[in-house]
Amino acid sequence: MEHLEGPLEIREKGRRADLVTLADGASERAVVDRLRADFPNASFLGEEGGAQTGTSRERWIIDPLDGTTNFAHGYPIFCVSIAFEREGEVTVAVIYAPAMNELFIAQRGSGATLNGKSIRVSAIDSAGASLVCTGFQPSHYQRNMRYFDAASKTTQGVRRDGSAALNLAYVAARRFDAFWEFDLHEWDTAAGALIVREAGGRCSTIEGAEWTPTSPSVLASNGLVHDEFVNLFLTVT
Ligand code: IPD
Ligand code: CA
Ligand code: CA
Repeated sequence: MEHLEGPLEIREKGRRADLVTLADGASERAVVDRLRADFPNASFLGEEGGAQTGTSRERWIIDPLDGTTNFAHGYPIFCVSIAFEREGEVTVAVIYAPAMNELFIAQRGSGATLNGKSIRVSAIDSAGASLVCTGFQPSHYQRNMRYFDAASKTTQGVRRDGSAALNLAYVAARRFDAFWEFDLHEWDTAAGALIVREAGGRCSTIEGAEWTPTSPSVLASNGLVHDEFVNLFLTVT
């Protein structure tokens, strides 16, 4: 948040409009330094620092700033996303959106909370009554366009607001009934998917297959509308 007030030194990482700012690196260093003090043998996967291999079967998966484009423009949908994995299974997830002061937490088997209060996915049971969300890199718009079109014609609205991790947390908090995106990375989804599942929701690939954080697509929902979206998207694949 301090970085928002000063020079951000916005750069494109390689791909057009794939931005990185001073805050991305500073956030990752702060998170990794803090966690490494308590977990000296753990592995780390951070978007900005790459992978560090530890000796324990524990791994921290970190997106230090998800929604960098929003951050760079002062649009408040951005967050820090942290997942803790033990023996290949994500067991703890934290997503913090500082501009909103919203903290989402999930622990495997113990449910999900928003600022300390238990959260649950929505009870909307038809795509026609749903509000959904998607995301895409600008260069991937063509690929997502058919899905966006189908969802726009079926639902009450499709949002695209630029933070996959927060979009997943919003499914958990019943603000969205479903979210889909292609080509995300582990750091975008590992925490959000646990929060969705612990809030009673479901995650799969867009085709409805079993989802892991390295899957090529994600469809997260409240569970009730899941099959309807899988079937809708199969018609436009
Ligand atoms: C991006 C955001 C965005 C999504 C992109 C991601 P970043 O992450 O989550 O919503 O559409 O695919 O890369 O670059 O802001 O950490
Ligand atoms: Ca991200
Ligand atoms: Ca990021």
